[in-house]
Amino acid sequence: MGLGYLKKYLLRYRRQYIAALIFITLETFGDLIQPTIMSKVIDNGVKRGDMDYVLKLGGLMFLITALGAGFAITRNIISSKVSQSFGADLREDLYIKIQSLSLENIDEFQDASLITRLTNDVNQVQNFAHGSMRIFVKAPILGIGAVIMSFILNPTMALIPLGLVPIVIVIISMNLKISYPIFTRIQRALDKVNAVMREYLAGIRVVKAFNRFDYEKDRFRKVNEGLKNITLKGMRVIAVFNPTVSLTVSIGIVLVLWVGGVRVNTGNMEVGKIMAFVNYMTQVLHSLVLMTRILNMFIRAKASSERIREVFETESSMKVKESPTAFPNGQGRLEFENVYFKYHNNSRWVLEDISFTVNPGETLAIIGSTGSGKTSLVNLIPRFYDVVEGSIRIDNIDIRHMNLDDLRERISIVPQKVLLFTGTIKDNIKWGDKNATDKEVEEVAKIAEAHDFIMSFNEGYNTYLGQGGVNLSGGQKQRISIARALIKKPSILILDDSTSAVDLITERKIRNKLKDYLKNTTTILIAQRITSVMDADKILVLDRGKIVGQGNHEELMENCQVYRDICISQLGKEGVSFGS
Ligand code: UTP
Ligand code: MG
Repeated sequence: MGLGYLKKYLLRYRRQYIAALIFITLETFGDLIQPTIMSKVIDNGVKRGDMDYVLKLGGLMFLITALGAGFAITRNIISSKVSQSFGADLREDLYIKIQSLSLENIDEFQDASLITRLTNDVNQVQNFAHGSMRIFVKAPILGIGAVIMSFILNPTMALIPLGLVPIVIVIISMNLKISYPIFTRIQRALDKVNAVMREYLAGIRVVKAFNRFDYEKDRFRKVNEGLKNITLKGMRVIAVFNPTVSLTVSIGIVLVLWVGGVRVNTGNMEVGKIMAFVNYMTQVLHSLVLMTRILNMFIRAKASSERIREVFETESSMKVKESPTAFPNGQGRLEFENVYFKYHNNSRWVLEDISFTVNPGETLAIIGSTGSGKTSLVNLIPRFYDVVEGSIRIDNIDIRHMNLDDLRERISIVPQKVLLFTGTIKDNIKWGDKNATDKEVEEVAKIAEAHDFIMSFNEGYNTYLGQGGVNLSGGQKQRISIARALIKKPSILILDDSTSAVDLITERKIRNKLKDYLKNTTTILIAQRITSVMDADKILVLDRGKIVGQGNHEELMENCQVYRDICISQLGKEGVSFGS
C-alpha cells in the first residue's frame, strides 16, 4: 500500500539485498548468543575458579564479537550501496516522468513541490531503504530471539519480557498514528519554503530594485517558522514516545533484578543467569527502540513515497494517440478552426472561436493588447496546451493525431520570455540542432543580427553565459534566442514578441533578413509594434481572446476600428504609409 511501486527498484538489487540480510541475520545471532555464554563463564568458570574454562569461552566470545563486527561492516557497505543506487534510480525515473507531464500537470504540482519531491522526498525513502533491513530482520530476530533465549534460561521469569511486548506494541502504534499526519505536513511545509526560496532567487534583481528585501524576508520567515513548528511537533511526539518505550522496558529490568534477587537468595537461581537475563532484557529494549526509530523513519518515508507516487500516477493531461501519424511532409499550412481554449484554473475563455489559415511560407502577424491571448494562441501550436474545443491542423492533419516529438521537432518557437542556458553562446544556439556546424551557427547568428555583437566579445562564440544568460542585455538575449530557433530549420516558426527589446533599426534589419531566409517557412509573428506587423501577409487582431479583425494592413485600416486605433496611437494619423 503506497509503497508497492517501490518494489521493482528493490527487486533490481535483490541479490545484494539478500546478501545484506544474511549478514545482518548472522550478526544478530552473534548478539543473541553472547549473554548465554557469559552466564556460563560466570556460573561454571568464575565460581569454580576454572581458569581454562574462562579463557576458552572468553576466546569464543571474542571470536563471535569480531565476526559480528565484520558482518556489520560488510552489511553496512552493501546496504549503503543498495539504498544509494535505489535512490538514484528512483530520482531518475521521477525526473523522466516529470518530463513527460504536460505543462498543465506541472502548473498543478508547482515546480517547487516537484523539486522537494525529487530531492528531499526521495532521500526519505532512500534512508528508509537503508534502515529497512534493520527493521525487517534485526529488530524482530533480536526481540523474539531474546525472549526465546530467556525462556531457555528460565521459563517463569521469561514471562516478564513477554508481558512487556503487548504494552510496547500499543505504545508504538499510538506513536505511528499520531506522527504520520505530522510528517505529511512537514513535507508540505518544506514545499512552501522551497517555493518562496525559488521565487526569491529567480526575482532577486526585482527584489533589490524595489528594495523589498524586508518583505521577502518576512515571507521567508513565515514559511520557515511554519516548517520549524511542524517539525518540532513531530520531534515532540518522538521525544515523548521513545523514552516511554525505554521506561517500560526498564521497569521490566527492575522486576527481573528484584524477582531474580529473591531467587538467588533462596538458592533457586545463579547470579550469571540473572546477568544474562538482564542482558536479554536490554536486547529486547534495544530491538524495541530500534523498531520505534525505524518505524518513524518508515512513516516519514511513507508520507514521502505517497508524494512521489502521486507524480508517478499522474497521467499527462496531454492525450497522445495510440498510433500517431508522422508530421506531414507537406509545406506547413496551418489552420485554426473554431478554437476555444482556457487554462484549467480559469473559468473564462482565454480564446474564443478562433479561425484562420496561414498558407505555406506566409507570415501571419498577431497584434492585440496585453492579455488578449496572443501567447496562449501560439502555445497551442506545439501543444504546450490542448484546445478545449475546435481543432488545429497542419497540412490538413489534426495536431492531436501527430507524433508529439515530431510535431515539436518541426516547430521552432522564440518564447516571449527568453530562456538561455548555462554554457557558451555556441552551445546555446546549437540547442536548436546539436549537429549544426560552426558555419551554420554563424549564418543564423547573422540573420538574427547577433553575429556582430558576439564577435565584439573577446571569446566570440565561445563566450560563456551564466545562468539564464545573465551577462547579456535583453535585446542580445532575444537575438540569440532567435538564432537558436532558426538553426532548427523549422516548418513553422513562431516569434512571440521576440524583438521587443531590440531597437527599431536592428529590428527592421532582422525582419528583412528573415524574409529572405524564411521563404518556405510558415511564420507566426507576435508584436506590439505596428511597424513590425504591417507588412505581414496577414494580420490577426486579437481583443480579449476574440479575433476582431483579419486581413492585410490596408484591409484592416479600412475595416477594423481596433487596428486603426492601435495604428494611430503609435504612428499618428500620417503614420499610415510609414514603414511599408
Ligand atoms: P496571454 O499570455 O496569452 O496574453 O494571456 P498575451 O496576449 O500574450 O499578453 P502579452 O502581450 O504577452 O502581455 C491571455 C490570458 O490568459 C491568462 C491571462 O490571465 C490572460 O488574461 N493566462 C495566461 C492564464 O490564465 N494562465 C497562464 O498560464 C497564462
Ligand atoms: Mg504574450
